Amino acid sequence: MYATFLRPLLFSLSRSNAEFAHERTLDGLALASRMPPLLAALRRVYAPPTPTLARSLFGLQFAHPVGLAAGMDKNGVALPAWAALGFSFVEVGTVTWQAQPGNPRPRLFRLPEDSAVINRMGFNNHGAAALAERLKRLGRLPIPLGISLGKSKITPLEHAVADYCASFRLLRPYGDYFAINVSSPNTPGLRQLQDKSYLNELLAALQRENRNFTAEHAEDAETPKDKSGSARAAASAVSKKPILVKIAPDLSDEAMLEVLEVCAANGVDGIIATNTTLSRAGLRNTAIAAETGGLSGRPLHGRACDVIRFIQRESEGRLPIIGVGGIFTADDARRMLDAGASLLQIYTGLVYEGPGVARRICARLIGEG
Ligand SMILES: Cc1cc2nc3c(=O)[nH]c(=O)nc-3n(C[C@H](O)[C@H](O)[C@H](O)COP(=O)(O)O)c2cc1C
Repeated sequence: MYATFLRPLLFSLSRSNAEFAHERTLDGLALASRMPPLLAALRRVYAPPTPTLARSLFGLQFAHPVGLAAGMDKNGVALPAWAALGFSFVEVGTVTWQAQPGNPRPRLFRLPEDSAVINRMGFNNHGAAALAERLKRLGRLPIPLGISLGKSKITPLEHAVADYCASFRLLRPYGDYFAINVSSPNTPGLRQLQDKSYLNELLAALQRENRNFTAEHAEDAETPKDKSGSARAAASAVSKKPILVKIAPDLSDEAMLEVLEVCAANGVDGIIATNTTLSRAGLRNTAIAAETGGLSGRPLHGRACDVIRFIQRESEGRLPIIGVGGIFTADDARRMLDAGASLLQIYTGLVYEGPGVARRICARLIGEG
């Protein structure tokens, strides 16, 4: 249905403006998110039970491994709909402390011949305060919520730590885990934060914030004052939040080893591998390949699997990995799980395969036992 009707329609309406399709899809899902009967109907179609695929990581329960990657819903406008479409978790953002418009358009390009996308969005988002307000109004989701944090464009690199910490402090009560994005290629200098000394300073400061908040609010967890009176919600709001680091696929082995060392030293809970790549190797569409930005989708898959295998081997399985990059089918998902990922995320696969992508992958994974 999606491949036959909806995708050709969306792609042709947005031939010279891929972002148009993205925006209209989000509008539709944001509307659906405010209509409980429609959500229930979507859930019946797209989110069947998957008991044999359930897993627990970082103290969180996941119905199956397939989640939605960061960047699709930067402002968290359609979170209930993603749950209803069968994703077992969703990562909102990347959000920055300052609201910012992102790079000038066009900044999103589809490469259908390569089942790929190039983007240079540049963290267009409404800012941490707007997201906190929206999440507060929304209340708890039926699935775990990750929040991806990035650096505001106007903040110089030497003040990056304060910028991330301000967002973390404000959003901390609302996220089940936090993804520290130091790997987007579209914010000048951001990837430098993967360097040992920067990363060490950033993670140490975030973990300090994490511990201080937990200590300061320990009493709240014992005497819940939130509206629902739920002790579980209150305890979750103040317990130490899992922090994961999202890395680029373009790091050398040496650089990756340094990242792993710094992550281990700072008690990081997991790695998200990988963000988009600057490589253009093997693309058929050479015209769009020249566009500046990060490449995602099928051409990224092999490299993302290699990175996951490397992390799994070097960390001796001690650092849980969320695998992301070019997952379209159950075979891709299986390859990434076999490489060492415990959870998976999808972005470009959703653009090409449509809303049934998580359900189809799970059905096949269940079939394989
Ligand atoms: C248009 C677009 C925007 C993205 N924005 C973000 C972002 O804000 N933060 C982030 O961590 N990753 C972002 N990503 C990267 C994805 O989360 C993912 O890591 C990458 O696309 C590889 O997965 P995929 O091949 O399934 O798309 C974005 C990707 C695309 C295509």
